[in-house]
Amino acid sequence: MQRLSITRPDDWHVHLRDGAALSAVVNFTARQFRRAIVMPNLAPAVTRVADAAAYRDRILAAVDPALHFEPLMTLYLTDQTPASEIIAAANSGIVMAIKLYPAGATTHSNAGVTEITRVYPAIAAMEERGVPLLVHAETTDPHVDVFDREKVYIERVLVPLIARFPKLKMVFEHLTTKEGVAFVQHAPRNVAATLTAHHLLYNRNAMFQGGIRPHFYCLPVLKREEHRTALLSAAVSGSPKFFLGTDTAPHARGKKEHACGCAGMFTAPCALELYAEAFEQANALDKLEGFAAHFGAEFYGLPRNPDKITLVKDTWTMPDHYAFADDVIVPIRANEQVRWRIA
Ligand code: DOR
Ligand code: ZN
Repeated sequence: MQRLSITRPDDWHVHLRDGAALSAVVNFTARQFRRAIVMPNLAPAVTRVADAAAYRDRILAAVDPALHFEPLMTLYLTDQTPASEIIAAANSGIVMAIKLYPAGATTHSNAGVTEITRVYPAIAAMEERGVPLLVHAETTDPHVDVFDREKVYIERVLVPLIARFPKLKMVFEHLTTKEGVAFVQHAPRNVAATLTAHHLLYNRNAMFQGGIRPHFYCLPVLKREEHRTALLSAAVSGSPKFFLGTDTAPHARGKKEHACGCAGMFTAPCALELYAEAFEQANALDKLEGFAAHFGAEFYGLPRNPDKITLVKDTWTMPDHYAFADDVIVPIRANEQVRWRIA
């Protein structure tokens, strides 16, 4: 049996939802990760520091106190976000970053940014105060092929953005393409990226294996194999620009198995185990600790976690569902094997 002990990791991109759904999912994340960057795409969105503080209290009320989990909050950027709210966030001690959703790009993104130049004043305040901008990098131009949305967003929005704000701390969230990898590698040091376990392990064939597979539908959508291998190479490269962000995005089974199903994969019940599978596949388990537990903290200017977590090479079967508010939720690998477990 193989064992791997690493510094306890953090998850730099999670959706914890709210209410009964929050209670159903939060402890899956808290069990593995000490800290997590919590996405603000609730309905209504978390746009002000006061909303983030209230949401943080609800998260802490739902989490098992024995797990010592620390939610790191974000604000949802809108066309109307004033620079003063960015300054308030910088001084808040609880809001760590600002999330940019292009309007219409994904779940609860309707209040997002319609045109990047409209938020330049807010972004200038972020650059000045060192507040990271977290980007969902997909164009919403309906003429652009779904599989090219990331590449086109880089060309149209991100290249001009980093030229205009060269000192902006930016995280390219859930990177999915080789073009995204190249962009981040060649960008200044203050530009980093998160990688999900599912984009490291699966390509777009997974959505169509023997029929339509709604539980493999997420945004940005899974891409071709050549992109998956580029992501995996970046993850195991040892570059501090690439770190762990699961983008675990729970939706009730009824909203996934639907004529117009929601985007998102629920990976929290085996997130770290799946990253271990990916790194093992690349023969790079020795690179997992930096990626999962060091580089993100360094980017955000936080100390490393003091404790360790141990992974054991031992196969178990994921349940076919978990309870979720008034429905159930289907996790990734439902009824299938997971090849690592947490000791
Ligand atoms: O698959 C996704 N689900 N992508 C996103 O960008 C949002 C997320 C969600 O909130 O469900
Ligand atoms: Zn997300």
